[in-house]
Amino acid sequence: MLIEYYTDIHSHLLCGVDDGAADDSEMLSMLDLAYRTGTRRICLTPHFNPEIWGDNSQEFSEAFAGLSEYAAEKYPDMSLYTGNEICYSQSSIDQLNRGKCRTLNGGKHVLVDFHLGESYFQIRSALLELLSYGYVPVFAHAERYDCFTSLLEQLYELSSLGVVIQLSASSLTGRRGDALRKRALKILKGGLADVVASDAHNTTTRNPCLDSAAAILNKYFGEDYTELLLKINPDRILGL
Ligand SMILES: [Fe+2]
Repeated sequence: MLIEYYTDIHSHLLCGVDDGAADDSEMLSMLDLAYRTGTRRICLTPHFNPEIWGDNSQEFSEAFAGLSEYAAEKYPDMSLYTGNEICYSQSSIDQLNRGKCRTLNGGKHVLVDFHLGESYFQIRSALLELLSYGYVPVFAHAERYDCFTSLLEQLYELSSLGVVIQLSASSLTGRRGDALRKRALKILKGGLADVVASDAHNTTTRNPCLDSAAAILNKYFGEDYTELLLKINPDRILGL
């Protein structure tokens, strides 16, 4: 264990809400796995995209209550928080303002992703709109987009505007292929990443473990930067 604990701001542990945990058993196993590998704070961020998932707020509440009960009994030092991963649309601001979708732990930070075919101009415009309404966008798995013609310069522009750049642990470890690993490392070397999170969907291919990513971060960038990306910044984002 390199640092005291990890805080994960992007995860799909809740079952029956989106394409995360398939059932109760997998949801609880994912929490066990996260705990065993050093995570002590998790923000649950199911996809918010009514076109695909409908109104899943009831399912969210039920799954969150079940997971919280399990965590409180088995892992008293584990804390859970609510959020959403919002697939940006024309309606997002209205849905946020009306409380239809969740900011991260009820604060100003909004975890947002985009259709992979969106242009940089569209993404930049959307992030600017969120900022103009007083939200702080956390750009989910920024390494996954092919729209950047000049990756570091464009991410620097977004970062300068106030956008928080999130990378996925599975990209960093190479689990999602060499191209994404190289891109994630390039962003890190450019000093443009603010937070690394699991984006966990299951216990295997997209698991909630942050320890492997921590080891890589520590090897290439040192302990301070590792702690910043996996504990200090995510805690700040959750207002902790
Ligand atoms: Fe996600």
